[in-house]
Amino acid sequence: GLSTAAGLARRPPVTGDELRSAVPLPPAFQVPLPIPAVLAPVGTSGGADRYEITQREAAVEILPGIRTPMWTYGGTFPGPTIESRRGRPITVRHRNELPVPTVVHLHGGRTPASADGYPTDLVLPEGWPDAARTGHGGHGMGGHGMHDPRAAVTRLTRDYAFPLDQRPTLLWYHDHRMDFTGPAIWRGLAGLHIVRDDAEDALGLPAGRRELPLMIADRVFAADGRLDYPALDPSLRERPGVRGAFLAGVLGDVILVNGAPWPVHEVDAARYRLRILNASNARHYELEAVTGDGRRLDLVQVGADQGLLAAPVTHRLLPMAPAERYDVIVDFAGVPVGGRVRVVNRLGSGRTRDVMAFRVARKDTDKSRIPRVLSRDLPAWRRSDAARVREISFRAGRMHGGHGWLIDGKPFDPARTDVTVRLGEVEVWRLVADVHHPVHLHLVGFRVLARGGGRPLPHDAGLKDTVSLRPGESVEIITRFDGYRGRFLFHCHNAEHEDMGMMANLEIV
Ligand code: C2O
Ligand code: CU
Repeated sequence: GLSTAAGLARRPPVTGDELRSAVPLPPAFQVPLPIPAVLAPVGTSGGADRYEITQREAAVEILPGIRTPMWTYGGTFPGPTIESRRGRPITVRHRNELPVPTVVHLHGGRTPASADGYPTDLVLPEGWPDAARTGHGGHGMGGHGMHDPRAAVTRLTRDYAFPLDQRPTLLWYHDHRMDFTGPAIWRGLAGLHIVRDDAEDALGLPAGRRELPLMIADRVFAADGRLDYPALDPSLRERPGVRGAFLAGVLGDVILVNGAPWPVHEVDAARYRLRILNASNARHYELEAVTGDGRRLDLVQVGADQGLLAAPVTHRLLPMAPAERYDVIVDFAGVPVGGRVRVVNRLGSGRTRDVMAFRVARKDTDKSRIPRVLSRDLPAWRRSDAARVREISFRAGRMHGGHGWLIDGKPFDPARTDVTVRLGEVEVWRLVADVHHPVHLHLVGFRVLARGGGRPLPHDAGLKDTVSLRPGESVEIITRFDGYRGRFLFHCHNAEHEDMGMMANLEIV
């Protein structure tokens, strides 16, 4: 039930008075952009690097001078970044010192089912009752108490082994506990993971301090600086920019990049590689980079969710649904020293329109380049390769006596297999939506074949693992289910939709 969001609900709801004396928010473009620290391995054994992360509560300075209690990976938000090399396996020992069970999923990882963070493969905190006896409560959908006979539950720690035998790209790790993913990510359980390889390093793309990971996420802060999960707090729905209706997905009125509100970053007048992740629970963005005199800079896309494109694609506007990543090059050379480039979200209004800014601080040499050919190993499956075509619907409907989000008319049930595919087979999936749903498949990358019955859009290029289904739209994707047998997932990555049932089991046999 609503015991949910455990700590979040414990506090009495924010009153109208408290809202009037709202927490002080900084002006836009004053807080420096933080870069999450890169985690050092604790050791190496058998050619695999070993990492350790403790999940714990911490008071994190998100708003200047204010401590916000969060659930963290290692005490920070975002959690530490893991940098790995293609084909070099790693193990991450996660220790759960939070007050609730957790599950870690490496989003975009080619990970065997045993380490993929299935939503009932819980890491229980000390003292938490055995999940096998309690079942799993719903989040207000009535605690349907589903039992998962295949759940692999551990206590206190779990070693997640990632082969990382995959194209280099920006991944992210986040909580994936059944029914509670939205509030857990909101409270802070998200971090970045960058896979690299020699071929990509040799391209000459901007690197070092000219490569910036940017994790964009919105949040709501109560008057005392705590995070509010507005789904549980109807009074917050009145605040501009905040949407608390659980059914639609939660929107916040404060835009964070790498955990800082509307930050600013000083840059050289040179090319930068921006590795952007939309880590918001439900907010969509249409990003533009606008100069002081109103010019929109080119956003030259070199990579998608699952790594490098075959060739660069130039955008002026970058739509980003939750969990999508874009790897883009922006050239600040044409901006005068002292000038500012604002990153704005065309879909936002008021303060949610601003995202962050770059201030061009100095001229400098630039040896980077954007090669015309970026990669030659992009899978090019054709419709004729497909063993079958499936149609899969993503729509609202009745669930456990209330409203929920359904895939093919059904809410998630860990005990049911929804789609069975054969290892090595190519399939076309036609995904159809009622409202906006970012659809994510675990394990595999896919190509977008068609959108709305026509050609894919420019930002559908490359190999993806999350695709934005726009309202009423159908999107066709194609992939080969290779890698591992076992039970994987696909789901909507609007985190509240996911928690409200929009997830399904994919069995690879
Ligand atoms: Cu980003 Cu199934 O998750
Ligand atoms: Cu959805």
